[in-house]
Formats: sequence, C-alpha cells, structure tokens
Amino acid sequence: MQLRTQGKLIGFVPTMGSLHEGHLRLVDVAKEKADVVVVSIFVNPTQFGPNEDFEKYPREETADVEKCEQRGVDIVFAPDAGEFYATNFSTFVNEELCSRGLCGDFRPGHFRGVATVVLMLFNVVRPDLAVFGKKDAQQVAVLRKMVGDLFVPVTVVEAPIAREEDGLAMSSRNRYLSAEQRKLAPRLHATLQAAVESVRAGERRAKAVQEQVAAALGEGEAFRVQYVGVVDAETMQPVEEIAPGRTLLAVAAFLGATRLIDNVDL
Ligand code: PAJ
Repeated sequence: MQLRTQGKLIGFVPTMGSLHEGHLRLVDVAKEKADVVVVSIFVNPTQFGPNEDFEKYPREETADVEKCEQRGVDIVFAPDAGEFYATNFSTFVNEELCSRGLCGDFRPGHFRGVATVVLMLFNVVRPDLAVFGKKDAQQVAVLRKMVGDLFVPVTVVEAPIAREEDGLAMSSRNRYLSAEQRKLAPRLHATLQAAVESVRAGERRAKAVQEQVAAALGEGEAFRVQYVGVVDAETMQPVEEIAPGRTLLAVAAFLGATRLIDNVDL
C-alpha cells in the first residue's frame, strides 16, 4: 500500500515455484520495467487435471525464496495452498477463444484455472505490470485476452523463452528426463528451427510445416507427438496460410512420461 502511494511501479512475476533460470529471467525483465518486484509462488490446484502431476509437482520454497533474494526480488508472496481459495469457491474466469486448441484440447479446464488464479493474484498484489514467459505462448495469449476483455488494469509483458545451451526450453519438468531422454530433448527445438528455415525459404502452407515437424519428431520413435499447431499468434486459432511475423508454430510432445512444450514465431 505504501509503495503504491509513493508512486512506485510494481512489477509482478507469478510462478508455481521450483524456480530455474527461465523464471529468474522474468524477474530481470520485471526489474528493468518496475521499481518494486513481487514474485508469487503458488502451485495452483485448479489448473491441474485429475490425471496430472499436482501432487507430484516439485515444491522447494526455501531454495526458491533464496533464489529470489539473490536476484533482487523485493517481495515473495507464497499463499498457503489451503487458504488462497475460499471455502466453497465458485467463481471462475473462462476465456473462450485463445484457450481453444493446442494445450486447451488436451488439458480441459487448464486455462480456466490459470486465468482464475492470475486474476486472483492480480487483485491481491495489484501490480502495474506482470511478466509472463513466451514458453507458454497460449497462456500469455489467454491472459492478454482476459486483461483486455475485462479491463484489468495490469500491463502484460511477454519475455522470450530461456533455453539451455543445446536449445531445450528450460522447464521445471526437465528434471524428470532420464540421461538418454535429456540427450534427445533438444531435437524438439531443432525441429522447430528447421520449420523456421522452411518458412524463410518461402513455404507458406501450414499443413506442409505441420507435416514436416511431425515427421521429424516421429523419426526414431523417441517422441510421442501430442500436437503440432500452426496458429494465429494473437488468437491461437489454426491458420492455413502462414503470415510471417503473425504466425506461431507450437508443439507438445512426450518423451517417455514427460510432456515437453515449445514454440517459435514463423
Ligand atoms: P510456471 O510454470 O511456474 O511458470 C511461471 C512463469 O515462468 C510463466 O510465465 C512461464 O511462461 C515462465 N517460464 C517458465 N519456463 C520458462 C522459460 N524457459 N523461458 C521463459 N519463461 C519461462 O506458468 C505458470 O507457472 C502458472 O500457470 C502461473 C502463470 C503461475 C499461474 O498459476
């Protein structure tokens, strides 16, 4: 309250903890754009499906708080799992355009849980701006749409995907990969890059690019592809013709039991 009345700009980075360099880069972006940076750590039950890894999701709050301190975060907000949602909680935010397709098809209710908890967090933290990673491009699209449609007074800032040196997008779930799977994992990004090259060389047919990616990932049978989407970068809805600069290529694939997602702008 005092910080706000002092006219300080408040930057916010919502997370589910188990912080890695990808999260911390969002903190860097928030620090560049705001005077005070708040990070939330909350493993949000409503965005996990019944067969997903809510119970198993890694929780390491002490280490997370330390990482935040080291990176210059001013406030860590880590509400108690049982207390953040009111008893008989019954109000949800349903974004109904950008959440269709891609992950939305395979994780029913996921974006409803994300939009709801992010609005709750916004209402408690009351930031001026909030930073989200392009790693979860559909999530950013859904949240941008929510903020626009509902006149939520928060500026949504998108930060680029932080990658390991070999191209693998950083993720809390990468730790579940075996040594062998970890070696194969960068192929996901390499395949997307090959698609970018095809588009640079003139390919404009979404279907051709989808087939190229699915075929490349299918080789060797290590990956089990869940989807390969070529979509409008704003609405996340499928396009037939690629419009460079306005089209996103997004994939989800399993390596063993671990689900990896990645995306690139075409
Ligand atoms: P979580 O998966 O913890 O991610 C927190 C933020 O970090 C998200 O904005 C995500 O896109 C970003 N992020 C994760 N890995 C990244 C990477 N390699 N590069 C760039 N950004 C990365 O996303 C969530 O939590 C939740 O859905 C949340 C928004 C907190 C709502 O519960």
